Amino acid sequence: MHITVLRKVAVDFLVTNPSGYYLDVTGGAGGHAEEILKKLDLNGRLIVCDQDPKAVDLLSTKFSDSRVEVRRARFSEVFEKKENFDGILADLGISSNQLDDAQRGLSFLRDGPLDMRLNPNETETAAHVIMERSEEELANIFFHFGEERYSRKIAKAIVRVRAHQEFKTTFDLKEIVEKELGPLYRRQKIHPATRIFQALRIFVNDEMEELKKLLSGIKNHLSKGGRAVVISFHSLEDREVKKAFNEVVSSEGITQGFKRITKKPVVPTDLEIKENPRARSAKLRVLERRIT
Ligand SMILES: C[S@@+](CC[C@H](N)C(=O)[O-])C[C@H]1O[C@@H](n2cnc3c(N)ncnc32)[C@H](O)[C@@H]1O
Repeated sequence: MHITVLRKVAVDFLVTNPSGYYLDVTGGAGGHAEEILKKLDLNGRLIVCDQDPKAVDLLSTKFSDSRVEVRRARFSEVFEKKENFDGILADLGISSNQLDDAQRGLSFLRDGPLDMRLNPNETETAAHVIMERSEEELANIFFHFGEERYSRKIAKAIVRVRAHQEFKTTFDLKEIVEKELGPLYRRQKIHPATRIFQALRIFVNDEMEELKKLLSGIKNHLSKGGRAVVISFHSLEDREVKKAFNEVVSSEGITQGFKRITKKPVVPTDLEIKENPRARSAKLRVLERRIT
């Protein structure tokens, strides 16, 4: 089961008005949403969104509370209505429920179809990317979204192997990555397939474009005094969040109506990381709207 990262810290930053109108754009298993509800009074309202229909089903069953509305929406769709919020929370990436579901093909630790789509409307699966994209495109995906230094080497190997073998499963891909990069990764702490799988997931789900749309939506849909709390899990995401927050804030802290509440990102305690190793790379940043 998914363990919510920075559960209390994030919600303590987020909720400043118990009767306010809140948006959780990454509902997932509903951990943060549950914590938000604890802080809201009977007039408070919470919209919980996720792109994944399975997550939406879970959230709809979990929250029968009349203060909650569950919506299936991607970041690029959540701000279609003309509405402002007292707080917007985004806990990026994927949940352990998704990672541990072999049928989704997100983990190299479980054998399953090489799919990776969290949003069923996406047409291109990870297997399709591996089989159809050119060697150069594959290398760019691994380099840009996985920061994989051996991106060219692995792209070349994939193209060589796919000429006589179809990549259908997560283990098909894991095996070739282990064979090609295993010796080069011997002294590293992570598995050689970590960055390749991350890169494919980001590409298949268009995660960086989605994040950009979320960050611009956040700036336009906060009420006065409203806060955005964003938790990221890798440097590509954190860089985008930092950039977007800095664009509306000067070095003194306030310009263009926004204030940075966290000068440096807040990270989990050693105890939280011990109890939930997935939390180790989390970084939380908070932005507040000062004028309407
Ligand atoms: C880390 S989990 C959130 C966990 C949640 N905060 C909790 O406490 O249970 C991230 C969730 O965001 C969703 N997600 C990721 N990218 C999304 C996007 N572009 N649009 C909507 N949902 C997205 C994923 O489907 C996943 O369920």
